[in-house]
Amino acid sequence: MVNMNFDPFPKLTTERLYLRAIDMKDAEDMFVLRSNVDAMKHIARPIAKTIDDVKLLIEKIQTMVAKNEGIAWGITTREENRIIGTISFHIVDVANHRATTGYMLQPSMWKKGIITEGLNAVLQYGFEMMNLHSVEAHIDPANLASKNVLLRCGFVQEASFHENYFYEGKYLNTDVFCLLNKKHKAEI
Ligand SMILES: CC(C)(COP(=O)(O)OP(=O)(O)OC[C@H]1O[C@@H](n2cnc3c(N)ncnc32)[C@H](O)[C@@H]1OP(=O)(O)O)[C@@H](O)C(=O)NCCC(=O)NCCS
Repeated sequence: MVNMNFDPFPKLTTERLYLRAIDMKDAEDMFVLRSNVDAMKHIARPIAKTIDDVKLLIEKIQTMVAKNEGIAWGITTREENRIIGTISFHIVDVANHRATTGYMLQPSMWKKGIITEGLNAVLQYGFEMMNLHSVEAHIDPANLASKNVLLRCGFVQEASFHENYFYEGKYLNTDVFCLLNKKHKAEI
């Protein structure tokens, strides 16, 4: 059985980071993130134009977490309580003990190993606390940074779909990566 209880919100701590719930008070930092053209380049979601766009997103995240349907963490450094990125299990396939992860980070913080560090903590939570059997990630094949993060965390590429996602008038390609929980046994 997958454990889908996110109350109280599971805060995570790593060597350099805190991963915590995303709140309306974070709207400004989330706007910086979701309105950044470079950060949104490989994410097939609308870029935030106004703070209200981001408030709607935060509301959606809060509802998802409150209903125990999925979870998203805001990433902060240990020094400053401001959100610099996010990591999620935004889809959880309860029947198959499988979740889909997504992540993003402010460009000024790229290439310091931050998402690798955060994602490892999230994966540990997913496998040990949620009892997931596997985690998948869908990426734009051109997104080398994301691919490298996944490889570093032990994911393997399992599929490559051609023109499977219609977004803004184009059919986009998708690479699918997966990480199995080696310690997890099926419940009979
Ligand atoms: C993808 C992203 C989250 C990576 O975060 P990050 O904290 O910079 O990643 P890390 O520092 O942990 O890097 C992991 C690996 O990727 C490499 N890498 C980072 N940026 C890279 C780039 N632009 N091109 C190629 N490799 C890159 C790092 O060098 C590292 O590999 P290494 O260990 O072999 O040196 C970040 O680039 C981002 O937010 N991108 C925009 C949003 C996005 O695309 N999200 C993913 C959607 S699926």
